[in-house]
Amino acid sequence: MAERYQLAKNKGLEGVVVCDTAISSIQGLTLTYRGYAIEDLADNASFCEVAHLLWKGHLPTSAELNVFMRLWLKNMQLNDAEKEFLRVMAKNFAPNAHPMHFLRTAVSALAHDDESRDDQGEKVNTERAVKIAAKVASIVAAFHRLRNNEEILDVNFDKKVSWNFLNMLFGVEPSQDYVDVFNTCLILHADHELNCSAFSARVTASSLSDLYSAVTSAIGTLKGPLHGGANEAVILMLQEIGSLDKVDHFVDQAIVTKKKIMGIGHRIYKNGDPRAHILKKMSKKLCDETGHDEWFAMSERIETLMAEKKSLTPNVDFYSATLYYAMGIPIDLFTPIFAMSRVAGWCAHALEQWKVNRIYRPISDYAGTDGKQWVPINDR
Ligand code: COA
Repeated sequence: MAERYQLAKNKGLEGVVVCDTAISSIQGLTLTYRGYAIEDLADNASFCEVAHLLWKGHLPTSAELNVFMRLWLKNMQLNDAEKEFLRVMAKNFAPNAHPMHFLRTAVSALAHDDESRDDQGEKVNTERAVKIAAKVASIVAAFHRLRNNEEILDVNFDKKVSWNFLNMLFGVEPSQDYVDVFNTCLILHADHELNCSAFSARVTASSLSDLYSAVTSAIGTLKGPLHGGANEAVILMLQEIGSLDKVDHFVDQAIVTKKKIMGIGHRIYKNGDPRAHILKKMSKKLCDETGHDEWFAMSERIETLMAEKKSLTPNVDFYSATLYYAMGIPIDLFTPIFAMSRVAGWCAHALEQWKVNRIYRPISDYAGTDGKQWVPINDR
């Protein structure tokens, strides 16, 4: 067997380097986007600035940001055809539709009215990234409005992305505190090196397919409970546990039965996830303010027990769950909101992939049986 088979045959590709990237990096407990520490960006940036940084490689000047923001908000505003498409989908499938299925289909459909679809140059693809990322947010908000028989709301061009999303979702002007917290969440989730969905976007891009297809693949990948679906699963787990006094028993049982505790553990971070530290602080504050302190206390107890018993720590999904819950965001929108942010990373990865493209085509080691003879159907 060829040596290269053995080199790469790590289950889940653990430790296998498949490409170079200049988008984000994880070194120990330090996560950076294009060289900027995540803590610095979380404290200072807007989500649009971060998307600009990820796609274009530098923080925008104020003139660049103005143009970029205008283009973003223009795209965030759904046009009549898009609204009608979403209404028809919602009428036929919501309220039973899974929001990630709805989002995946809607993003895929955005390709239909792309008049420059034959232009796969970097400039057009970067504009396409703005279009897709901006519309992911409006689609998520529209889905929620439509399933509640409410009208899709329009963009306020004087406000930023986080304000607009929360307003378009709830139909109520959000407080500045909520806007700031939400903006930080979007930044923290925007990219994470070669995570499962970013890899999926890169694989699709590597066949020289288009950006809509790359993002659609990535949405499907993010949906799984081992990846982005974990934030929703965390709240469902807390609901199942019910109260603080039942946490210890639940965790013990999970360990005995080898059931995973959602939001805990990570392939790369073995000593803590820097995003979880920031999210934990925000979650504590908001849970205290909104009377959800028991949810926070339960989470903290799970964290302590998992550290003691399994040496595992919370990942990005653990405290974002209680944070979104305290903000009143419906549980099944947690993962679509993750997509609304991570789309920035997916597009950055597709754009980077195209700069140095070679199609991804790994190999597998055949583990089946050889030499079988055809058996006519009546003899089987
Ligand atoms: N709860 C309980 N045990 C866990 C665990 C969890 N959340 N995460 C990992 N482990 C244990 C595994 O059971 C395994 O133990 P073992 O060696 O005794 O069999 C060991 O830790 C390694 O886990 P493994 O699943 O092989 O790690 P991985 O690198 O393949 O997976 C995750 C990483 C994130 C998929 C995994 O930790 C997980 O499933 N976490 C819960 C889902 C989640 O929060 N996903 C969001 C990721 S951002």
